[in-house]
Amino acid sequence: MSRRCVPTSLTAYISSARPFQTNTVHLPIRTSSSPFLYRLGHYRAFSQTITRYNMPVAIPKNTSAEVTAEVGGQANVDQLHRTSRDFRSDTITIPTDAQLLFALRASRGDDVYGEDPSTTNLEKRIAKLTGKEAALFAVSGTMTNQLAIRTHMKQPPHSVITDWRAHVHKMEAGGIAMFSQATTHQLVPSNGIHLTVEDIEPALQLGDNIHIAPTKLICLENTLSGIVFPQDEAVRIGELARKHDIGMHLDGARIWNAAAAEIEKRGLDATKEEDLQTVLTELCAPFDSASLCLSKGIGAPIGSAIVGTREFIARAKWFRKAFGGGIRQAGGLAASADYAITHHFPRLAGTHKLAKRLEEGLRELGCDILAPVDTNMVFFNSKNMGLPLDAVMARLAALPDPIIVGRERCVLHHQISPEAVEDFIATVAEMKKEKEESGQLKKDVLDQDAKDKLYRFVGPEGDKEDKAKVSEADLRKQGALGY
Ligand SMILES: Cc1ncc(COP(=O)(O)O)c(C=O)c1O
Repeated sequence: MSRRCVPTSLTAYISSARPFQTNTVHLPIRTSSSPFLYRLGHYRAFSQTITRYNMPVAIPKNTSAEVTAEVGGQANVDQLHRTSRDFRSDTITIPTDAQLLFALRASRGDDVYGEDPSTTNLEKRIAKLTGKEAALFAVSGTMTNQLAIRTHMKQPPHSVITDWRAHVHKMEAGGIAMFSQATTHQLVPSNGIHLTVEDIEPALQLGDNIHIAPTKLICLENTLSGIVFPQDEAVRIGELARKHDIGMHLDGARIWNAAAAEIEKRGLDATKEEDLQTVLTELCAPFDSASLCLSKGIGAPIGSAIVGTREFIARAKWFRKAFGGGIRQAGGLAASADYAITHHFPRLAGTHKLAKRLEEGLRELGCDILAPVDTNMVFFNSKNMGLPLDAVMARLAALPDPIIVGRERCVLHHQISPEAVEDFIATVAEMKKEKEESGQLKKDVLDQDAKDKLYRFVGPEGDKEDKAKVSEADLRKQGALGY
């Protein structure tokens, strides 16, 4: 970047770098009961990252904001505020000033030539964290899932077993058929929540019946709709797969959430690399390959990684090239993701607490909660209270400080504010009261921006769509929808 293009204040921050300035956080989400310890944890993790790369990075002084007008611009300060009230997905978190300043100091080599240390370091770090030999950085979770599946599959006829809600077959544009020429056998978990050996074993295609494409891969998802996959069951399924020489792939788009939940459960320390490594290694152990999204829970602007054996990753790299997915100067992206692992991962426990608070608040009001809330997602249905989903969404969007919910799935992320959760619950309470008192709901007037956001998923004819959604939700009462 030419010096002339850099805003003066940013240049000043960098040239006057006081390397170990503590970075502070905007939202009062705490992973420790002591704010001091929380900050100390952040500071320690931050210093470790900087030390590892030997990179002095200046963080704005005297500010508790993650995005400042001075560095990020007022539009991004406003964007962060809107994001703190946006429950559509955990993909909508925004990069912070500190994260982008960190990225500014990343290496700028060509990663397709294997010459970018920031990317290689990130890959090594993720491989170590997951207990696998190697890792590969790519642009998206869809790409890492499809690359991994393609790498597992050798020659058709062949088939893949998934949960019927699995992202890999339901939400990846038919990628398994397109790239791997494989049939997918989608199973409905008999317990309504997660697949078991008892579901999978009878569905395996092992014989030489020429009518049936043999099973070559089992794909599981952790978390699925925010639900943590029970580890003992993953281990049992892994043993079954090995017995029949079938591969195991994990769609770990939200494995960070599962890891954060496990760290909390065991009383480990989310700011400690060793603790994260212990838990992630265990979670990935039953699988030959895993895809870990970096741009969801932990808030990298882009990216996902596959992990596996050295041989597997070398082959996946070949496919990444063939898919057009090699990134040249990947360093800044990799560094943003690296920063996110260090600084945002420890915040997930706080996010999960907010999800629990939302669940409890909605449940107490009388909403149906459609799936267990293990991590960061709350699926709710307020229809039974006479509150159609689209009416709730419209009321939330019409608040003076709008809250955006895309459907019955509410996704919490590390930039959701506790105030947004309280406002959400209070709004549903107000609608309930209105309904009880007059039998009518007030008609909400939405501005165009709110309409655009809301109707992206439900369409302008909310009521009609809502009926379709509700019957779908009813059909799936026992499990979550799995978007
Ligand atoms: C479970 C799961 N796997 C994979 C993906 C794909 O990730 P991406 O959007 O980065 O392609 C998603 C996206 O939401 C997801 O929810």
